[in-house]
Parts: sequence; C-alpha cells; structure tokens
Amino acid sequence: MRSYSDFYRRSVDDSEAFWAEQARLIDWQTPPEQILDASRPPFARWFVGGTTNLCHNAIDRHLDARGDQPALICVSTETGLERSYSFRELHAEVQRTAASLLALGVKRGDRVLIYMPMIAEATFAMLACARIGAVHCVVFGGFASGSLASRIEDAEPTVIVSADAGSRGGKVLAYKPLLDEAIRLSKHKPAAVLLADRGLAAMDLVAGRDHLMRDLATQHRDALVPCAWLESTEISYTIYTSGTTGKPKGVQRDTGGYAVALAASMPHIFDARAGETYFCTSDIGWVVGHSYIVYGPLIAGMATILYEGLPTQGLDRQPDGGIWWQLVEKYKVTVMFSAPTAVRVLKKQDPALLKKYDLSSLRALFLAGEPLDEPTGRWIGEGLGVPIIDNYWQTESGWPIITIANGVEKKPGKLGSPGVPMYGWRVKILDESTGEELTTPNEKGVVVIEGPTPPGFMQTIWRDDARFVNTYWKTVPGKMVYSTFDWGIRDADGYFFILGRTDDVINVAGHRLGTREIEEAISGHGNVAEVAVVGVADALKGQVAVAFVVPRNADGVDGAGALALEGQIMQRVAEQLGALARPARVHFVTGLPKTRSGKLLRRAIQAVCEGRDAGDLTTIDDPATLQRIRQLLRP
Ligand code: PRX
Repeated sequence: MRSYSDFYRRSVDDSEAFWAEQARLIDWQTPPEQILDASRPPFARWFVGGTTNLCHNAIDRHLDARGDQPALICVSTETGLERSYSFRELHAEVQRTAASLLALGVKRGDRVLIYMPMIAEATFAMLACARIGAVHCVVFGGFASGSLASRIEDAEPTVIVSADAGSRGGKVLAYKPLLDEAIRLSKHKPAAVLLADRGLAAMDLVAGRDHLMRDLATQHRDALVPCAWLESTEISYTIYTSGTTGKPKGVQRDTGGYAVALAASMPHIFDARAGETYFCTSDIGWVVGHSYIVYGPLIAGMATILYEGLPTQGLDRQPDGGIWWQLVEKYKVTVMFSAPTAVRVLKKQDPALLKKYDLSSLRALFLAGEPLDEPTGRWIGEGLGVPIIDNYWQTESGWPIITIANGVEKKPGKLGSPGVPMYGWRVKILDESTGEELTTPNEKGVVVIEGPTPPGFMQTIWRDDARFVNTYWKTVPGKMVYSTFDWGIRDADGYFFILGRTDDVINVAGHRLGTREIEEAISGHGNVAEVAVVGVADALKGQVAVAFVVPRNADGVDGAGALALEGQIMQRVAEQLGALARPARVHFVTGLPKTRSGKLLRRAIQAVCEGRDAGDLTTIDDPATLQRIRQLLRP
C-alpha cells in the first residue's frame, strides 16, 4: 500500500500532474488542453478545453462491460416498492426523460428545478439534465413553499420536475399544492411542470403547463438522445445552501472537475470498486445525495441504492430497525454512507439487529454532515465490526475535505476526529482576528482552505461572483483564503477536530439550516416585534432550533396565550420553510441581548441555552436581557 502522506504531498506540490492523472479516470470526448487555469483567483478552472458529459460517464460508458448489471436499486419502505434498473434500463429511462424535457423546450444551459421525493424518476431527471446539458437545481423535498419559491425565483427554471407526493413514516405529504403555491409566490413562472404520479395524492393539473412524466415517457419510449459534449467548465448544477443571510446561495458546480473529483474519490477515499453496491442513506436534495447517491457510484460503475423511508421501518411497513442491514445483506453492499443522527436513531433499537444479517460484504461505514460523537462512533463500530470513517465536507466542497483515504492507506482513525486533509485540499487553521496561521497543536481557530481549490469545489455562487468572493474569501484579514466557517483544531499527529460553526448556520439532524431564514419566517407573524433563533445541542439531532421572541403586544402572552402564539409560530415556520426548520421551543422575552451597535448576540444566547459561559460580554448593551433568558431557562 502507498503512503498517504506521499500521495497528499504530490497532490499539493505537483498538483497539475496529480490531477492530470486523476482525469484519466473518466471519459473525455476531447481531452483537456490545460489542467488548471488559476489566473483569476480565487476562481479555479479545471481541465480547460476538455469536453465531457456526466451522464455519459455515469451510464453510457458502462453499457458494454456491465449493461445488464444493476445500476439503480430503488427501495421504498414508505410504499413497499422495490425495483432495480440495470445500466441498460437506466440508459433507456434517462433518454425518455431527456426527450420529454427537450419536448418541453429545455435547452442546453437552461435550468430545471427538481422538487421530488426519493424515487427513481428523480434520478432519471437529474441524469437527463446532465445528458442534454441542462442545469439541474434539486430542492430538498422537505422544504415548503416559501423556501421553494425563493429558489424558483433565483434559478429561473424553464421546467420544474416534481411529483404528487412524498411520504415520511407512513404520512403522505402532498407536494403538488406546495409547488403550486410556490409558483404563485415566485415572480418567475416555469414554462412547464413535469409530474411523477405515484398515486399517493390527487393532483389538479394546470392545463397547458402541467404534464405527467408517464405520458411523455410513453410518447418518447424509444427515444435516442445523445449526450451533449460540454466544456469541462460548463455548469452541471446548482444546489442551494444556507448561510449568514436569509437569502440562500446557489452553489454552482462545473462538469469536468466534478466528474474527476468524484471518480477519484471512489477508489481513493471509499475504496469502492466497479460491480459492487454502494448504499448512501442521504437525500438527493442534499449535496451528499448528488455526489454519493447519484453521480459518484454510477461513475465508478457501481450499483447505487436509492432509499425512501425511515431507518426503522420494513418493506412491509411494519416497524423494523434492521431494514438497512437487511439491504446490506441482500444487495451485498460494500460501502455504506450515512449520518450520525441516523446512527443515533438506530442506537435506540435492539442491538441484536446488528447481528441478525450477514454483513460480511460491508467494508466500511462513512458518516458525514455533522460531528460524530465518540459514544455513537464506538457503538456502531463495535456493532458492525467494520471501520467507521467520519468525513468532513460541505455543500461548497462537493466531496470530502477531511477524512481518511481508505483506498490509499488504511490509516487508523481517531474517535472525534474526521481525520486528515484530503489530497488537493490545502487546509489551514487561522487565528480569527489576526489571520495568522496557528501551527501549535490544539490551538483553536477557523478552518480555511488556501487556493487554488481542487476539482469538484464550487465554481461560484449562481449569478453572483461578487457574493462568492466576498462571502467566502474575504473573511480573514489580509489574506485571500476560503473560510469554511467552522472552528477547528489540529492535534500533534495532524488530525483535525471540528468544533462547530463560526456563523449563524445550524445543523439539525445533519441538515444545514440558516437561523436568519427561520427568523425571517417568524418575524412575519403579526405579533412578533423581534426574534433571535439559535441552535441548541440536542442528544438525538445534534442541534435543534430554539426561538426567542419579543411579542409586539405582550398582553395575553402568558399561560394559554403564550402556548397559542408558540403554536402559531411553529406552524408558520413549518408552512414556509418545512418541518425540519420548525423550532423545538419558542420562548417569549421582553428584550434580546445585543451589542451597542444593535447586533444580536446569538452566540451568547446559545451559550446560555447550553448552560455554558456566555463569554466576553463587554460589548453587550443591556446585560439584564441575557440574565432574564438565564432565569427563564432555569428548570
Ligand atoms: O459545520 C460543518 C458540518 O456541516 C457543514 C456542512 O454542511 P453541508 O453544507 O450540509 O454539507 C454536508 C456535507 C457532508 C460543515 O461546515 N459538518 C459536515 N461534516 C462534518 C461536520 N461537522 C463535523 N464533522 C463532520 N464530519
């Protein structure tokens, strides 16, 4: 086995030669002329002059060698549906969807917004966009009309692909009314809407605008749609993520760099091989789903499992905490990818379930999206008897920044640490105020990345280069480095530990949410004068949102009145943003702690909620506000 440190060194010291080699892992129609164009920092353009296609690399190039092998395995414990598509079948389905999109007027570079549950058609739609060079913008199905509307407005899609409904824990969630409301709210209107009908909820179709996927797929049954050869730097997709402001950011990704980054990560990080099965339990609405449900495994010639449902329900829709392990046995899963929250849910199940199935195919379980606490990591590691590999990354990065490159060198992990910087990423820890690099072990600072950033990293923020540069690259004084907005330390052995966000982003059950967006939804309530939302530690979900509200009219906001207002506020957030963002508690206060210049002291409120020291409060305008919150929370 190679030494990881040599592998890493080469990736940063001789980075163009390193990535030129990785670029051979994918098919190019025209090979790149220039490996990296870093002439306009912080923008990095990879594989300039090369032309390729993500769908070709995910499907077409495997047809000869493995056309009849499974490519997409759909399992829904919500509907009981289980169905597998070979590469050949997937090829046909994607062409039908591609032909449908073309018939609806979608052209290369147009956006197609995908708002769908975890069903095969969602994957067909993504790959169909990639095939014809349309830009897909997948919006998480758990988001509600307000969130959806702002994304429609920003992406300006020609077509929206959706479905009648999603389902969670047996509860049907109709998507179509949410979508109709979002389109009504948005200034931009799509030319057409393409709908999968699962027979879960009735749909009112808008004549001339709405079409059923099934009808168009039948019309285009035998469609042959060639792959559009895109410039490496042409946009493949945008995905929205939360930041410090209420306006979500469209993280924009290229084509060639992303394909190479994923193709390289499959052997080097995941130690995954063609012909095997990869099982990632994320959702296509998140970056993990884009990279490791859809593109990564398929590019590598693997079968990928698309799973709809909770981890605690069987195909017969009865409670079953062993369903994932049953699937590992059945489909001989070699690599699995999930989130710590899911493991914490499973931890409440009978531990015998981990021993009930033959898990001998499984080589490792990767976990990401939120900090992996030591007891959870230890519990699942002992239960499964395979390495548990924590990996740290972001929507912006597209693939892991810090982890263990299991296919390069099986370095031991450390509980509580995601590992070491991955090849291509120049990760540093800087002092927040001076910008000095912290080289002494275990000194806490901001985790940053020095450019040029590796392939797969975001190109920019959709239609807003200035926001990309100002938000991410100008936070540290005197240096142009990318801020991850995470605190971290590096120990004497070079292992990193991530210590939470430096900004107002919270992480609920591995899902990234902006507290500002939640605050904006709450402040629209007629009886809310001021609001602060903070993320508070939670044993199961990692964090939950907690709101502190100053009512406009305090009369009646005690006892039953407070309970009613709390209920209205929670409902408002769920309706506008989705259930995920709903605060766990709403507390009513007479004032919020702020600095003298009026900046909300969210970090201090959060510290008080978690029973920690509120830190330096010399800037606080009215210390009594924080004192009252402390009293309020006292059991
Ligand atoms: O705060 C870090 C946390 O999640 C953020 C990124 O979330 P998102 O954009 O949704 O991308 C998730 C991709 C896996 C990070 O800034 N985070 C992610 N992974 C970890 C983590 N925190 C600690 N440990 C991790 N392994």
